[in-house]
Amino acid sequence: MSMKIAIGSDHAGYGLKREVVDYLKEKGYELIEMGCMDGTSCDYPVVAKEVCEKITDGTVEKAILICGTGIGISIAANKVKGIRAALCTDAYTAKYTRLHNDANVLCMGGRVTGAGVALEMVDVFLETEFEGGRHQRRVDLITDIEK
Ligand code: RB5
Repeated sequence: MSMKIAIGSDHAGYGLKREVVDYLKEKGYELIEMGCMDGTSCDYPVVAKEVCEKITDGTVEKAILICGTGIGISIAANKVKGIRAALCTDAYTAKYTRLHNDANVLCMGGRVTGAGVALEMVDVFLETEFEGGRHQRRVDLITDIEK
């Protein structure tokens, strides 16, 4: 596995970020770790912007963002042009946001989702290809909103 992934969290997502980082490193992913590097308080919009810019500048194709609920960091990420950030809660939502939305950022809530479910979502999100077809037209319509 040689995919390069950016991953970031605020303080509330830090514990889950550690679990995801260890897991993906073990699987051979190359990671750019950003945001909180311990439990010290930091602001999720800043982390969301920094991580999403790794996608828009072409450094990585996909990213993972974690805050307490996953909501704030996904709202912030979706303000960045070209970002389709999906707050997922299970493997089904992680699978379908890749198949239908071509989501490029997986968001999770560190105070909501346990490590077992989170790691399952991460696998599905990183391994599922976009279906294209009629879904491409809809993704294009989302992109039109940015203009
Ligand atoms: C931090 O306390 C918390 O507000 C943040 O992690 C996130 O849940 C916001 O949506």
